[in-house]
Amino acid sequence: MISEKLGAAINDQVNKEWWSAGIYKAIEAYYSSNDLPGLANYFNIQALEELSHGEKLFEYMLEVGAKVELKPFPEIKGDYSSALDAAQYALDHEKLVTSLINDLMTLAKEENDHAAQIMLQWFVTEQVEEVASAQQLASDLKVVEGDGRGLLMVDREMGQRSFAAPE
Ligand SMILES: [Fe+2]
Ligand SMILES: [Fe+2]
Repeated sequence: MISEKLGAAINDQVNKEWWSAGIYKAIEAYYSSNDLPGLANYFNIQALEELSHGEKLFEYMLEVGAKVELKPFPEIKGDYSSALDAAQYALDHEKLVTSLINDLMTLAKEENDHAAQIMLQWFVTEQVEEVASAQQLASDLKVVEGDGRGLLMVDREMGQRSFAAPE
């Protein structure tokens, strides 16, 4: 049994994860249209990860019988002033998601829902990784700011990333 309040909060997070996927698809399109296919690849994979995060929460909701309600996305920003600007936006977004996950965990504790806490633990750990990799990308792009060759090197490196579905 899940409380109505916690069920609604997890439902919100499902929507936020799929919104995140939309944001990263927009960033992918931005990089692709600026001839940076490696960075575009990186954000395509980022979007696939967000879809899988939403799926994980969605499956949990079905399992515990919580009410699913899909909602329209909030704003999806598609215009960025530079490669660094887009990466910085992604970093800020990951920080926002981290605070949402932390709030969810706090609520699961208040509701004394042990199963939800165990499920959410995965997301707490995942967010540490998500913020760290977004931070790394933003720092790399800051280092090469104004240096076309450096930017190409970062782009090549980001082209190496491939998707591994979380278990
Ligand atoms: Fe996520
Ligand atoms: Fe994320």
